[in-house]
Amino acid sequence: MIYIAPSLLSADFSDLANEIRRVSEAGAQYLHLDVMDGEFVPNITFGAPVITSLRRCTGMVFDVHLMIREPIRYIKDFAKAGADLITFHLESCQDPRKVIREIREREIRCGIAISPATPVDLVLPYLEEVDMVLIMTVVPGFGGQALIPSCLDKVRFLRRYADRRGLTIDIEVDGGIKEDNIALATEAGANVIVAGSAIFGSKKPRSVIEGMRKAAAEHPFRG
Ligand code: DX5
Ligand code: ZN
Repeated sequence: MIYIAPSLLSADFSDLANEIRRVSEAGAQYLHLDVMDGEFVPNITFGAPVITSLRRCTGMVFDVHLMIREPIRYIKDFAKAGADLITFHLESCQDPRKVIREIREREIRCGIAISPATPVDLVLPYLEEVDMVLIMTVVPGFGGQALIPSCLDKVRFLRRYADRRGLTIDIEVDGGIKEDNIALATEAGANVIVAGSAIFGSKKPRSVIEGMRKAAAEHPFRG
C-alpha cells in the first residue's frame, strides 16, 4: 500500500485548518509534520502546541518528523499532542534505543530517520524495533529542494534486506519528491511518500496526488 504524506512545511501557515482540509479532501491519508529546532537543522518550525491544535481539525494520520537534538526530551509532549507516528533522527541522539522505547511504550508507531550523509547500515540494528525507516532524499531543514537520487540506493538496499528477513517495515522517503520522480522511489521500495512543495504548492492537489498514485502503481518494487 502506498501512502501519500503532504508535508505541512509548504502550506500557508496563516490558514492551516483550510490547508489541511484541502489535502485531506484531495485524498492524502497522512499529514507529515516537520518539527525543527534550529539546532539539529538550521531552521525552526513549530512544536507540540501547534500539533495539539491541528489535531482538532482532522482525523488524518499525524506523521511527526522530529528534526531536533535529543528528541527523548519531547516524546511525551508529541504523544500527548496526538502524533500517530513519531520519527526521530538516528544522528540526533545519544541512545536511539531509549528513544524507540519511549515512543513505543506510548503505543505510538515509531520511525527512525537518516540524513543523506548517514550510511544505511547504521539503521540495520534497529529494524526489528521500528515500524518505519525514513530515508531522507534531501539534506533536512528546508522544503523545495531537489531530490538526491543516490539516496534511493539506500531504499532499495533496505527493502531487499527487510524482505529477505521477512520484516514488514514501511520505508518513507522525504525531500524533492514530485509526480515526475515518485516512480524512482516506489521502484526502489519506498511506500510512504512525503511531498511538500509538490502538493501544497499546487492549485490542484487532487490531480497531483492522483498522478503520484498512478505513477507509483505503475512502478512497484520488483525485488
Ligand atoms: C525537509 C523536510 C521535508 C520537506 C519536504 O527537511 O523534512 O518534509 O518539507 O518538502 P519538499 O517535498 O518540498 O522537498
Ligand atoms: Zn520531513
